[in-house]
Amino acid sequence: MSHELETADAVARAAGKLLREQLGKMRLVRHKGPADLVTDLDQQAEELIASLLRGAFPTYGLVGEEGGEHFVSDNPRWLIDPIDGTVNYIRGYPFFSVSIALEREGEIAVGVVYNPILDELFVAEKGKGAALNRQPIQVSATAILDQSVLASGFPYDVWTSEADNSREWRRFLKRALSLRSDGSAALDLCHVAAGRIDGYWELELGPWDMAAGALIVQEAGGSVTQVNGDHFYPYKRNVLASNGRLHAEMLAVLKK
Ligand code: IPD
Ligand code: CA
Ligand code: CA
Repeated sequence: MSHELETADAVARAAGKLLREQLGKMRLVRHKGPADLVTDLDQQAEELIASLLRGAFPTYGLVGEEGGEHFVSDNPRWLIDPIDGTVNYIRGYPFFSVSIALEREGEIAVGVVYNPILDELFVAEKGKGAALNRQPIQVSATAILDQSVLASGFPYDVWTSEADNSREWRRFLKRALSLRSDGSAALDLCHVAAGRIDGYWELELGPWDMAAGALIVQEAGGSVTQVNGDHFYPYKRNVLASNGRLHAEMLAVLKK
């Protein structure tokens, strides 16, 4: 295990412990949009993660969702989401995570996603496979869309945007066995990696939502592209992840 992965693992656990201990005690700080909320714990967890990573890797850059100025360098740099699933965290709905990725030379080299409620730590390193609590994981074997369980989520500007994912959701609703929308993109990706669901797509995300989870899916044997089938790049805002077998069928539904 690289020093970077070992450190990201420990840092995600430390931030997760803070979130677990403060569950139910957070304060709403501001709205980034009508449905896009920030709590004091989003900020505290980001500060904790940034200070621990900076201490261990003082020359690396860092981009966090809550926007602290953490830049030292562009390469390598950490992409972090201190709470992926803030609405769930506020409501005590036990589905949120800490997401940490390391980007090097334009590629994601390390990904760590931690669910502090279930104490589940998903990790991957480029070329070295993916694991859940140190046990190797792999994607599901589901080969037909009508037997699939899929997940997705909806953008924060859903009230006003035309690209609100309702058409895509409806198409998959009529084709899949069952759909889920649980509010943490990073965990949805990890659940594809672990074979708990078969596919996941979303149209409007940030790099900190997707980077770690996308690598974990790829290293678990799955496929990750943009929703139009292009090569996946975490700055392009959308993602399609699957067990690989369903990828072409899911792309066809999205392209309709
Ligand atoms: C959100 C979650 C959610 C997704 C949103 C994201 P946040 O992240 O990943 O599942 O549907 O688009 O913004 O704001 O809770 O970190
Ligand atoms: Ca997020
Ligand atoms: Ca967040």
